[in-house]
Amino acid sequence: METNNNNTVNVMPRIGDKAPAFVAKSTQGEINFPSDYKGMWKILFSHPADFTPVCTSEFMSFGKLADEFERLNTQLVGLSVDGLYSHIAWLRTIKEKIDWKGMKDMEIKFPLIEDITMNVAKMYGMIQPGESSTSAVRAVFFIDPFDKIRTIMYYPLALGRNFDEIMRVLVALQTADNFGVAMPADWRPGDEVIVPTAGSCGVAKERMQSSDEDMHCYDWFFCTKKLSKEKVEEKLGK
Ligand code: BEZ
Repeated sequence: METNNNNTVNVMPRIGDKAPAFVAKSTQGEINFPSDYKGMWKILFSHPADFTPVCTSEFMSFGKLADEFERLNTQLVGLSVDGLYSHIAWLRTIKEKIDWKGMKDMEIKFPLIEDITMNVAKMYGMIQPGESSTSAVRAVFFIDPFDKIRTIMYYPLALGRNFDEIMRVLVALQTADNFGVAMPADWRPGDEVIVPTAGSCGVAKERMQSSDEDMHCYDWFFCTKKLSKEKVEEKLGK
C-alpha cells in the first residue's frame, strides 16, 4: 500500500490481480491497455528516464530480443514519466548513434508510453518514493492473455535488469500453463518439471509406485517428470 501526495491510497497491483486498464499516448500512437492486446501475453515495464545509460542498455536488450517476444505471442510496452518528444528523440539517438556490445542500428518498434502525470506509474506501484519520487523504478509486469498479472519484478535505479531471467520467466509461465506443471528452482527448457501434488496422501503414495519411466518421486509430495526442450518449443511456437 502506498500513500500519494494527495494522501489518497494507491493499492499496488499484486500477482493474480487483473491488470489495471488505462489509455495512454505512446511512440506508436494512442494505446488502450490491455484491451489492444487481446489474446496476447503482455510485458509492461518502466524505466527511470530517457537519455540515461542503464536504461539505454536495457532498451537495446529488449530490442535485440524483439523477435523472440513476438514468437512467444508477447507484446512489450515500455513506460517512463518523460514526454513523447523526449522518447522519440532518445529512441532515434539509440538507433542512429549507439553501438554497444555488438548491438547497433537498434530500432525500437514496441510502444513507449509517455506518463508525465505519473498516473499509470502510480496505478502500477512504479513510483517508490524511498528510491525516487520523481521517476519510476525498473518494474516488469508479466500479464497473461486473460489480463491477469502473473509475475512482478522491481529493480532499483542503478541496476539493469537480467534479460535471461525475463525470458526464462516468460517461457516458464507459458510452459506451466500449457502443460499443467510447475517449475523447480532455476528451471530452463529441457529440465524436469514438477508434477502437481495429488489431492490426497493415498493417491500421492500410489503415484510414487507409478511405472511411468518419465516420472521420478523423491517423496510423496515431490515428483518430477521429463519434458523435452523440443516439446516445450513446439508448444510455445519457438
Ligand atoms: C540510468 O539508466 O543510467 C539511470 C537512471 C536513473 C538513475 C540512475 C541511473
